[in-house]
Amino acid sequence: MNAVNRQMTLRRYPDGMPKESDFEVVMAALPEVGEGEVLCRAYYLTVDPYIRVHVSPSMSVGYAPTTPLGWPIPGEAILQVVQSRHPGFKDGEFVAGFGGWQDYCALPGDSLRKVDARLAPLTAHLGSLGMPGLTAYVGMTKLAEAEAGQTVFVSAALGGVGAVAGQLARLKGCRVVGVSSSAEKCRYAVEALGYDACLDRTQPDFAARVAAACPEGIDVDFENAGGEVFWAAFDHMKPYGRMLICGLVADYNDSSPPPGPDRSPNLLRMIALKRLIVKGVMVADYWDLRPRFLEEVGGLIRDGRLVSREYVVDGIENAGRAMIDMLSGRNFGKTVVRIADPPVV
Ligand SMILES: NC(=O)c1ccc[n+]([C@@H]2O[C@H](COP(=O)([O-])OP(=O)(O)OC[C@H]3O[C@@H](n4cnc5c(N)ncnc54)[C@H](OP(=O)(O)O)[C@@H]3O)[C@@H](O)[C@H]2O)c1
Repeated sequence: MNAVNRQMTLRRYPDGMPKESDFEVVMAALPEVGEGEVLCRAYYLTVDPYIRVHVSPSMSVGYAPTTPLGWPIPGEAILQVVQSRHPGFKDGEFVAGFGGWQDYCALPGDSLRKVDARLAPLTAHLGSLGMPGLTAYVGMTKLAEAEAGQTVFVSAALGGVGAVAGQLARLKGCRVVGVSSSAEKCRYAVEALGYDACLDRTQPDFAARVAAACPEGIDVDFENAGGEVFWAAFDHMKPYGRMLICGLVADYNDSSPPPGPDRSPNLLRMIALKRLIVKGVMVADYWDLRPRFLEEVGGLIRDGRLVSREYVVDGIENAGRAMIDMLSGRNFGKTVVRIADPPVV
């Protein structure tokens, strides 16, 4: 094959919020395809908060290998099979796999999952029907123990995880309060996603708004953000409330602890006094739930009961900007990068 493989790589490790100049597109040869592997062409790349952790030598400790400088940024992608040396895959099939930010990758067939392009647009398979959606599904169906009428608080309410978590909570009959970063995004959360209320975290009176929106307290905090959003929710947890610690995106650009007094003694005291239940969420423990998740959440999307929205940035050269948009809240939905036009299916 006479194609060039563009790779979006790291020129240097970002210090704080990444800059576009931290990233660099380089040209590489197409990978060799080994026995049991599949050569794939990428159309859509995911831009998820975990990728920021991969490109930080200090944050990745204990979580994931740090991406070496000059290597393609890691992450899942929507791919099409170009050449298969695995009996389970045929040329032309759509799959998802951890190919990273590049045009072509050769991956073990056993690591790929097939993507049903008739169920939902390809981009949704990186968001609502992908790893973020599964994370939300695990949180709301396995861990939250939320009941109808209870208050569920969801930070990063429009994102890959939050939008599904909020809508699943609404479908359970919960009262759902979201958090986002502009009036326009909050309006969308209420009008399109069915949140009962959505609070703009950039407003100076945010903590007071949390109190007003959750007059009886919070039963479940689906924590995607950390930082000040977490503390505002924590102050309003009800006794016996559940705190699902899914992610702390507010901290991913920090290389040192936040300034100010140590709040951990108050955190621990209130956990004890209110008998709060703190649960860590790690989607990697639940890949076996994917078939049931696809059936249930896929069915909800097909029936129009759950909305999926992606924020699509065009061009592999803009993938770094897409990450900056996602980390700074300029995204509107789950962030993906289109690096080539997929064939019509
Ligand atoms: N534990 C797991 O297995 C697992 C799996 C997937 C994801 N996660 C975590 O889940 C969280 C959401 O992931 P996602 O993929 O759905 O991302 P996302 O919501 O699509 O994108 C990140 C969002 O975080 C919000 N944000 C950024 N800076 C913030 C700040 N300082 N304070 C509050 N919010 C801020 C922004 O939303 P607004 O502008 O709307 O506020 C931004 O759009 C992340 O923390 C991620 O690491 C965990």
